[in-house]
Amino acid sequence: IDNGLARTPQMGWSTWNFFACNINETVIKETADALISTGLASLGYTYVNIDDCWSRSTRNLKGEMIPDPKTFPSGIKALADYVHSKGLKLGVYSDAGIFTCQVRPGSLFQEKNDAELWASWGVDYLKYDNCYNLGLPPQKRYPPMRDALNDTGRTIFYALCEWGIDDPAEWAGKIGNSWRTTDDINDTWISMTTIADINNKWASYAGPGGWNDPDMLEVGNGGMNYHDPFSKQFLHSDNKFVMQPFFCEIACWFKWCMSAPLIIGCDVRNITADTLKILSNKEVIAVDQDPLGVQGRRVYASGPDGCQQVWAGPLSRNRLAMVLWNRCSKAATITANWSAIGLEPSISVSMRDLWKHEVVSENTVGSFSARVNAHGCEMYILTPRRSTRSSI
Ligand code: GLA
Repeated sequence: IDNGLARTPQMGWSTWNFFACNINETVIKETADALISTGLASLGYTYVNIDDCWSRSTRNLKGEMIPDPKTFPSGIKALADYVHSKGLKLGVYSDAGIFTCQVRPGSLFQEKNDAELWASWGVDYLKYDNCYNLGLPPQKRYPPMRDALNDTGRTIFYALCEWGIDDPAEWAGKIGNSWRTTDDINDTWISMTTIADINNKWASYAGPGGWNDPDMLEVGNGGMNYHDPFSKQFLHSDNKFVMQPFFCEIACWFKWCMSAPLIIGCDVRNITADTLKILSNKEVIAVDQDPLGVQGRRVYASGPDGCQQVWAGPLSRNRLAMVLWNRCSKAATITANWSAIGLEPSISVSMRDLWKHEVVSENTVGSFSARVNAHGCEMYILTPRRSTRSSI
């Protein structure tokens, strides 16, 4: 929607993936501090989002939501003031139903009062979930909150979370700044790949103002490395080559998310150097945040079950982003032909590797191949070289 926000996909952090309901105001403040001290905030991760469970189970006598007095005794306004003082923004969560998924009060039929309350606290972002929705269609339940937020006069990011059930890409662009395209992510390879594929279907609907949301990052939560036989053994290795499958966890994320929200889901207060390095890759972030805002998509698949894949999308200044993603269980050489990624076969490009941070090939014509580890991926920016032939 045209509310001035989300010209590029939102970036920040959310409580849910790591903390679930185990949250309190100290965790939020410490995380805000950690976003600053790690440098993540200055890379663009500025939304500090409180997911489900911030609210008491019942409204007060005036019908207002109130922050859980045990876990948020100082209230949400105090937290908003705190994160604002650090140059960050605060998000809250509610539900387009009568309860949230963890059975706290929902906002269905109370949109106006709730939006006004959040605005009075200084809230900057709303994630709006889909539980206990009385079976009413989302197209009826999500617009009233858009209007209520708009009427507050405060600029509030509006993130729809109806899990992709009613193909929101087709209608949510007029309603919110992002919309979930899938069910909840979990910290496994199968979840990540499944979500990547579903999100890919809706690529053409993403753009400045409204983005497909394949859910929050699991990077740094450790589960994928333990569940994925290809990752565990590599996690603590110093060897760059064998680190790749671990990098894939995020590289793949960024790849399908060329243009998707980057909401960190780990405990930033205790982040490891490896995780921080992944999340801080400036060149990859720049692809995600490219002003052209075209979501990259799968353009080619070969090998067993199509597990050797090329994903690509245009960037500003006539460049392309490209990922070679090996979803097979064995290392493979993956080739991207220029015709598959929309380049004239005769065009010469320079290839910049976004993990190595260097140009790996100055003058590539027709196609590019690279060896990619099992479950690994490589990410590049392709810059066409100026033709040496004069057109006159
Ligand atoms: C739903 C959402 C999740 C999270 C939980 C909280 O499952 O999809 O992202 O917000 O609710 O209860």
